[in-house]
Amino acid sequence: MQGEFSHVPVLLRECIEGLAIRPDGIYVDGTLGRAGHSLEIARRLTTGRLICIDQDEAAIEAAKVRLAEYMDRITLVRSNFNAVGEILRELGIAGADGMLFDLGVSSPQLDDAERGFSYMHDAPLDMRMDRRAALTAHDIVNTWSAEELKRILYEYGEERYAGAIARSIVRAREDAPIGTTLQLVEVIRSTLPAAAKREKQHPAKRSFQAIRIAVNDELGVLEPMLRGAVKGLNPGGRLCVITFHSLEDRIVKKTMQALARGCTCPPDFPVCVCGNKPKVRIVSRKPILPGQDEIMDNPRARSAKLRIAERTEFEWKED
Ligand SMILES: C[S@@+](CC[C@H](N)C(=O)[O-])C[C@H]1O[C@@H](n2cnc3c(N)ncnc32)[C@H](O)[C@@H]1O
Repeated sequence: MQGEFSHVPVLLRECIEGLAIRPDGIYVDGTLGRAGHSLEIARRLTTGRLICIDQDEAAIEAAKVRLAEYMDRITLVRSNFNAVGEILRELGIAGADGMLFDLGVSSPQLDDAERGFSYMHDAPLDMRMDRRAALTAHDIVNTWSAEELKRILYEYGEERYAGAIARSIVRAREDAPIGTTLQLVEVIRSTLPAAAKREKQHPAKRSFQAIRIAVNDELGVLEPMLRGAVKGLNPGGRLCVITFHSLEDRIVKKTMQALARGCTCPPDFPVCVCGNKPKVRIVSRKPILPGQDEIMDNPRARSAKLRIAERTEFEWKED
């Protein structure tokens, strides 16, 4: 089913295999979304439990319907996933046997025009996944300095014309605030040279991605989430993370590598004095990518990368 407000789960088989689900195990889906992955995990549990986290209230409400048949083994938690460690503690769970994080926004978030994520629909500039959060896209576009705007457009959007777009935004808002998504699209469009407007990609795609990442602090939450998740896993428990762009993937790769390294002594130390042991074993050296069939069926899968790490036996020791 791929209509309005549905979301096709990405790398579903690979995630289910990667999690190595035991029917009596405890699992966390840290990015519930429209419950595509959660449904398949829940189906495989008997006496086990699935903790589903999402910061978007709409995801939690939709899951009550989609997962109704399995609610005896599911706990829904509305929270940021960077609090995964506290969430487990509050639920009295000493360790989980697997965790999945499928990053980014869901198709329903993009499709729901009033959320302001899309450059295709006119809506107030919002882009908050968690509508309780204070910072909106409107705040960023209308109050951040040209330098800050340039930085996020360049770093988070990899936008070549970051400086020019930032200056245009600041100029446009001197007359009146930029209130809606399509007003912002117009400012961006009018800034780009003709050649850039002819590219296959929508001219506002990169800028919208950048602003969305800033609104939701999407990169800042990753390392705390990854460390909290690994700490919360039982030995042998699997951590599966799906990313959709290079910035996210770099953080996931580097953090997994750091957790797999163990010893943090300077390289010229003759013997280890820190005593740190590897906290994870990297299961797949190279990220797992979707096959051509999946990309044909679901173009959103095109840029997906799945990385998997397994918790070691060593006790967690802060480094
Ligand atoms: C790509 S979708 C997940 C789709 C889901 N796996 C499925 O198959 O339906 C990502 C979801 O994670 C949520 N999300 C993203 N970042 C989050 C964060 N930091 N904390 C909690 N939820 C987050 C979003 O609200 C969105 O619903």
